[in-house]
Amino acid sequence: MGVLFSGPQAEFELIREPWFDAVRELGRRGVFVGGPAVISFEEAFAAFLGTGAAVGVGNGTDALFLALKALGVGVGDEVITAANTFIATVEAIHHTGATPVLADCDPDTFLIDLEDVKAKTTSRTKAVIPVHLYGQMVDVEPLLPWAEARGISIVEDSAQAAGARLRGRPAGSWGVLGCFSFYPDKNLGALGDGGAVAVSSPSLLSELRKLRNHGGETRYRHDVPGFNSRLDPLQALALSLKLPHLDEWSRHRRRIARLYGGCLAGTGSVLLPSDRGDDSHVYHLYVVRVDPDARDALRRQLQKKGILTAVQYPVPVHRTPAFAHLGGEAGSFPNAERLAGEIVSLPMHIAMDEAAVETVAREIRAVLGAVQV
Ligand SMILES: Cc1ncc(COP(=O)(O)O)c(C=O)c1O
Repeated sequence: MGVLFSGPQAEFELIREPWFDAVRELGRRGVFVGGPAVISFEEAFAAFLGTGAAVGVGNGTDALFLALKALGVGVGDEVITAANTFIATVEAIHHTGATPVLADCDPDTFLIDLEDVKAKTTSRTKAVIPVHLYGQMVDVEPLLPWAEARGISIVEDSAQAAGARLRGRPAGSWGVLGCFSFYPDKNLGALGDGGAVAVSSPSLLSELRKLRNHGGETRYRHDVPGFNSRLDPLQALALSLKLPHLDEWSRHRRRIARLYGGCLAGTGSVLLPSDRGDDSHVYHLYVVRVDPDARDALRRQLQKKGILTAVQYPVPVHRTPAFAHLGGEAGSFPNAERLAGEIVSLPMHIAMDEAAVETVAREIRAVLGAVQV
């Protein structure tokens, strides 16, 4: 029996009929850009997050880019983020004209090291983007007064952490802006691309609404040079149908993580992910660490058994050709570099059950035993 890596198809099955009904209704109304479907999702998502509003945009990369633009970030500014994030976070900074500045990650949590963030701060630092990587929230609370005192904006990259809550407060609602991706395999995934920015400041809300829509909140009004990056109504309909399931899906992912923990505990060669034991990890990915010399063989063997895994991400940002200029030498970010060689993402999704976890864990034990890690 194989095990799929992620579960967008299973989620689609759950909303299939109501979504087709909603699409038929959309066709009858003929509002194919913006309109009630988008507004209603934005309102529901803002209520879920407890923020003043949410602004639907084309994807998570644009959410980050437009968030920085709304804050006035541009040439001459610096924005700090994690060396082990997905490349999109850094692309968004780069395309504003600002300089991305990388911080290393904590070796145990994989999350951005806030002490390194402070060490990398200069008078040009305009924003910090903590990344809630793999679905686990960075505890940004201690950073907020520090940032406020320096006029630095905290923009959360919550692309992987929709539904996570730390001390009861949702990911994306802590910083001045919270950015989300609705890429289909995300915890709250659309049926194509989509994204949103959570915002409470009325002036930033207005700025974001303009930036996503050719510089104006209404048609043929162009207050600023804007962009075209709007959440598609077909996606908004799917997201509205999925949002009510999100908390249950997060609980399910945490259950699967606990089962993995139970099945893999005692396998000395597999290091399990860190977890505060609360709601602050929603396991977008279940990432373990193994001996780098054994990793590729492990992945190949699992694949032969139909068990799909991934490495997120195999190359830290500063070692990619695109961003080698940010400190490309090996050893610049030792934790991010070491982890990139050790991490493996195991299957994790809402259609997984105990039997699937046991299958994956059994095969891992078999393979790692055989290669004598
Ligand atoms: C951490 C992180 N930031 C940003 C993004 C960009 O989102 P999108 O793919 O919707 O542009 C992603 C998506 O993969 C992500 O994982």
